[in-house]
Amino acid sequence: MQTGQITSPHRSDTPFLEFRDIHKAFGKLQVLKSIHLSVYRGETVSLVGNSGTGKSILVKMLIGLVKPDQGDILVEGQRVNDLRETEWMPLRKRLSMVFQANALFDSLTVYENLAYPLRENDSVPEEEIRKRAARVLADVKLPGIEALYPSELSGGMRKRVGFARAIITQPECVLYDEPTAGLDPISTTVIDRMIRRFQRDLGVTSIVITHDLKSAVSVGDRIALLHDGVVWAVAPPDQILIDPDPVVQRFFEGYQMSKKILG
Ligand SMILES: Nc1ncnc2c1ncn2[C@@H]1O[C@H](COP(=O)(O)OP(=O)(O)OP(=O)(O)O)[C@@H](O)[C@H]1O
Ligand SMILES: [Mg+2]
Repeated sequence: MQTGQITSPHRSDTPFLEFRDIHKAFGKLQVLKSIHLSVYRGETVSLVGNSGTGKSILVKMLIGLVKPDQGDILVEGQRVNDLRETEWMPLRKRLSMVFQANALFDSLTVYENLAYPLRENDSVPEEEIRKRAARVLADVKLPGIEALYPSELSGGMRKRVGFARAIITQPECVLYDEPTAGLDPISTTVIDRMIRRFQRDLGVTSIVITHDLKSAVSVGDRIALLHDGVVWAVAPPDQILIDPDPVVQRFFEGYQMSKKILG
């Protein structure tokens, strides 16, 4: 059973991102069976679901890294499934992704890692790159580490640099694939606060894939639960937590229990 889509406070008429009847199989494994999901401008949707339900591949479709077998992917109403590689370039400037596996270049300094997307896409002057690098590092609470190499950083710091790199292009939309996985509670709080700040202050639209239900509740205007190849339920956090559907209940049970225990 699929719960009806509930209006978000940020809703505008045209969704910024839209999945229409998306299907995807790998060999005999039908991962996505019919995905329908809209994300409105300025909205943050937390995407949750058990491991292997297709969260990462779904989001990768938005930047052309995975192609659906069937269905349409729309960005601001424009169908993007069949774009050629060169046509993806301008779109990837507007839609930035924080990958699940940390994707920093080990042979480059933090500064060169941050400069990379700016040099790749635009001819941003060096002075501007320096300013922006300093700003995004301050944003992730790692000021002044430009000269270090990724190998000199802890896992949590590397994750935050990856995050800084995703926002240095000032994208309109950020897709986060488990931005807080494996992070200590302080780094998690820093990242969660940043996601909210981007949304509130800069109107950035986002999808946040997370296994951390506390994060999902804290950053999401709505939570979408992926189950059995479909968006099983999608609703604001306070509503999805009380959805009587057994699948939804089972999924959020652990979270509810830990909230009772920990307050
Ligand atoms: N390139 C690929 N070739 C074959 N199978 C793939 C490929 N990419 C993903 N899959 C399979 O598709 C399913 C969904 O993968 P996906 O990475 O989207 O899951 P996920 O929901 O992000 O899981 P997790 O929470 O563990 O990150 C998995 O069973 C995975 O093995
Ligand atoms: Mg994943």
